[in-house]
Amino acid sequence: MCGIIGYIGYRNATPILLEGLYRLEYRGYDSAGIAILSDSRIKVVKTAGKIKDLEKLVKEEDMIGSSGIGHTRWATHGSPTDANAHPHLDKTGRFAIVHNGIIENYKELKSELQTEGVHFTSETDTEVIVQLISKYYSGNLEEAVARTLKRLDGSYAIAVLSTEEPRKLVAARLGSPLVLGVGEGEMFLASDVPAILPYTRKVVYVEDREIVVIEESSWWVFDINGNYKTKQIYFVDWDSSMVSRGGYKHYMLKEINEQGSVVRNTLKGRLKENNIDLSELEIEKELIHNIDKIFIVACGTSYHAGLVGKHLFERWAKIPTEVDIASEFRYRDPMISPKSLTIAISQSGETADTLAGLREAKAKGSFSIALANVQGSTITREAHRTLYLKAGPEIGVASTKAFTAQLSALYLLALWFADVRNTISETQKEAIIRELWQLPYHIEACLAFAPQVKELAQKYYHYSNFLYLARGINYPIAMEGALKLKEISYIHAEAYAAGEMKHGPIALIDELMPVLVLVPRDRLYAKVLSNIQEAKARKAKLIAVATEGDDAIKSFATDILYVPEVPEEFYPIVNVIPLQLFAYYVADILGREIDQPRNLAKSVTVE
Ligand code: G6P
Repeated sequence: MCGIIGYIGYRNATPILLEGLYRLEYRGYDSAGIAILSDSRIKVVKTAGKIKDLEKLVKEEDMIGSSGIGHTRWATHGSPTDANAHPHLDKTGRFAIVHNGIIENYKELKSELQTEGVHFTSETDTEVIVQLISKYYSGNLEEAVARTLKRLDGSYAIAVLSTEEPRKLVAARLGSPLVLGVGEGEMFLASDVPAILPYTRKVVYVEDREIVVIEESSWWVFDINGNYKTKQIYFVDWDSSMVSRGGYKHYMLKEINEQGSVVRNTLKGRLKENNIDLSELEIEKELIHNIDKIFIVACGTSYHAGLVGKHLFERWAKIPTEVDIASEFRYRDPMISPKSLTIAISQSGETADTLAGLREAKAKGSFSIALANVQGSTITREAHRTLYLKAGPEIGVASTKAFTAQLSALYLLALWFADVRNTISETQKEAIIRELWQLPYHIEACLAFAPQVKELAQKYYHYSNFLYLARGINYPIAMEGALKLKEISYIHAEAYAAGEMKHGPIALIDELMPVLVLVPRDRLYAKVLSNIQEAKARKAKLIAVATEGDDAIKSFATDILYVPEVPEEFYPIVNVIPLQLFAYYVADILGREIDQPRNLAKSVTVE
């Protein structure tokens, strides 16, 4: 889950690497480093801490050179110390490496090298790679890298710099993302596109078991056995302004506020006046008719979107749907038939467990669709089809706009399936489409209540535990709201299906346990009200997220946040907005590092 970057060209590499690392910091932020080739030797500066700590150190050194590599780390093997930070050098100081991934057989390789007299300076798995490259080097860097890779079990995206061949960088991937940026007289390597967007929008997606060599004005790719590969250059439709904070205090706040336009963008071109057009997926209607079951596989916030999706596919398209956390799905031997459809949801398109779940489903004969945000990401290349979220780059580690884009994409897909399978009437379809068009306005109306949410955060930020309750299609939103609060404010928050409260969590309720409840005016309104009363009777402070105009709720709730009235299926997308804002403001009042919460990473590329 680390981020790697590489540069070779005509400019000083140091500022390019540092800027790229800032843009990759969401991938890991416990230590960082860069290596520059300068005066025929490799200079390394690295440290435990964040990129800003690295930047301070770099300023004290004379780090000038036109090629280099950099790394931002999320520790797996070895604690976040200066010594374990990347880049790592071989024993001769002629080779430097940065690595994202895990080498599973590093212990065996390390003892083999130790018996040959190699002294290790870190506890990382990565150091074995560079020591092996050094051992196998006999005049050609890419050959030494290829020979080394054949000895590794595990996952990697690596970039290698060497004094032996100073006008070249060699990189490779297996299981961890890697892109090559093609410039004019300069080339870039990175874990993710935003890192190189200020310099080029022409990218090549490196695939598993490919090795790439870059020089200032040329690049080539070959496989681990030395066979050359023909690769396509893609033009990325993101620009670098999309990866700036745009005046907001945090990326997360910017991304929360973008959600109206993000949803418009997800729907654009796919929702017609009175119809839905997902012909971009190139799926035969017959296939949709024949689906007997849907499996949704995802992690984290994307999993919560999947739980909402289940309600939509079952309600509108009448297709039984199971939703699994990907890390569970991959090991539970699910009963997948060739008539099943697997939907893998992933903002990054690189989450290791989601990818493994998708592969498992495909191996069992399932057709698959990815709902992904990052163009060219692994999941988009492995799924049979991809429905892009079109949310633009999401930088805040806690996902917000990708979630509302995922919900919008699920609305589209479920509606399309229902239309093809004739499980809804024309009138219903038209009503749903009208509502979909309104969604961005409803989201913007919720965002306008930000000052009230901020006041509420002032009132509640000092509590240590929260219970989030909801029923039906809103239960996943309670889960998402609790997750947001946990991950960025570090306050414990638990979500429960409101009807289940009496089977356990009610024992926790007292005046020190605020209860946030989603109580929209839908079919389950009266049921949720009863649950609220149960909590109130036990002295809970109740924060209700309720439908505008619901005055009755005033006699139950301590505090109320109103959302616009929408049909039942659309409450998730409006209800989530105040919950995102609540988590944000609580975390901000507490002074948390909102865009980079402790121990988390945006893209989890390890199991
Ligand atoms: C990490 C991120 C979450 C995200 C989850 C799944 O845990 O911190 O924000 O929801 O991974 O990521 P994906 O890219 O697959 O949606």
